[in-house]
Amino acid sequence: MKIRQPIITILGHVDHGKTTLLDKIRKTAVAQKEAGGITQHIGATEVPIEVIEKIAEPIRDILKFELKIPGLLFIDTPGHEAFSNLRKRGGSIADLAIVVIDINEGIMPQTKEAIEICKQFRVPFIIAANKIDKIPGWESREGSFIKNYQRQSDRAKQELENRVYNLVSQLYELGFESDIFFRIEDFRKTVAIVPVSAKTGEGIPELLLLTAGLAQRFLTKKLEIDENSPGKGVILEKKKDKGIYYLDVILYDGVIRKGDTIAFYGIEGPIITKVRGLFKAKPLTEIREKSNFIPVNEAHAAAGIRILTPENDKALAGSPLYVIRNNQSKILEQIKEEISSIVFEEKEGLVVKADTLGTLEAIVNILKSKGIKVSKAGIGEITKEDIIKAQSQKDEKYRVILAFNVSPIESPVPIIYDNVIYRLLEKYEEFLKQLEEQKK
Ligand code: GTP
Ligand code: NA
Ligand code: MG
Repeated sequence: MKIRQPIITILGHVDHGKTTLLDKIRKTAVAQKEAGGITQHIGATEVPIEVIEKIAEPIRDILKFELKIPGLLFIDTPGHEAFSNLRKRGGSIADLAIVVIDINEGIMPQTKEAIEICKQFRVPFIIAANKIDKIPGWESREGSFIKNYQRQSDRAKQELENRVYNLVSQLYELGFESDIFFRIEDFRKTVAIVPVSAKTGEGIPELLLLTAGLAQRFLTKKLEIDENSPGKGVILEKKKDKGIYYLDVILYDGVIRKGDTIAFYGIEGPIITKVRGLFKAKPLTEIREKSNFIPVNEAHAAAGIRILTPENDKALAGSPLYVIRNNQSKILEQIKEEISSIVFEEKEGLVVKADTLGTLEAIVNILKSKGIKVSKAGIGEITKEDIIKAQSQKDEKYRVILAFNVSPIESPVPIIYDNVIYRLLEKYEEFLKQLEEQKK
């Protein structure tokens, strides 16, 4: 048994500072490279525990606990689509999420979306209340938030408290108890708010230490893996480079080797194929000069890897990916079963189309939890069959198509489009209201 690094996803509304925060964490970590450096993965950045210890040193007299995990693996493909592609059976491969909120703006549409998806996939999350350097009168500096807080004027402290209070009440409306991290007694019940500045680096020691602490306290069972078992992962993205499709995969369990037989889900069904090429990214310090990939013979979880197979063009982003050893029929059964709960067709209900498995699953789950039936859940553009299916619905409230992030087309049945899940659902509720009014 080995304990792998927890997988941490950074989420949040556009421009609230996700990328800047990750950049700052990377830079801070690279600056501490004498302590063990940092490892670059495909679509992920690994910060080893020695580096976290080093960064957190100034606050270790306040937050005392032993760190046992080997590090943190941050997924740096932010945005809700990439995040919902991190799905795996019954959950998400993200062990924890950091939801970045501009403290001066508060909760915005994509923040709500991010929190909704965390709820759906049962991913615990921490709030990074970012851009505290912009608070009137605040004097931000790199390092500990707690220590820097003491130096602020009463007015600046009050301005911060007001903003935190505002976040707490907004989160309460979304169904979550929350508080600033140092006032929390039970982290299972209360969402932690960590004030940070991605610009100055203030609060990063607290954010990293708290993330590591919570992950190892509440997720250790989930992090125990057998590093020689057949690899399990999910396809984060399908990328085309010089005419060749590569699969960027996050491996969350076991091992994958060049030459291995693997299975994943394609546009037309399950695919069994062989790993022809396996790549890792070069370490971060080198990647700054020239982005490059190193061919490797094997990779162990948790890791971000790039895979080349003859069937890559047919792969579906968000699909599970399994290494097959003596268990081909079992794995195929598993993939079919898993997919059939997401992509399916029944008699009565709405037609739902989405661009990825993760978003489709999230939408269908929310609809079902509201007692709304789904007659067809599918991936990709809207087809004639989808329209016929919607037209054939007896109940008027089901004679409509919900389309997430797919191209608009001419249709005799109404189609509701959006690329934010909860807005799509709001629009459908609006549609239902209009139906009611027409009846009056
Ligand atoms: P998307 O990926 O487009 O959703 O945005 P993002 O959340 O990754 O935000 P990004 O990191 O691109 O930051 C958006 C802008 O906010 C940039 O101009 C950053 O320089 C700025 N910014 C981010 N964090 C901070 C901060 O802590 N303080 C200040 N003053 N500016 C910040
Ligand atoms: Na941005
Ligand atoms: Mg960004």
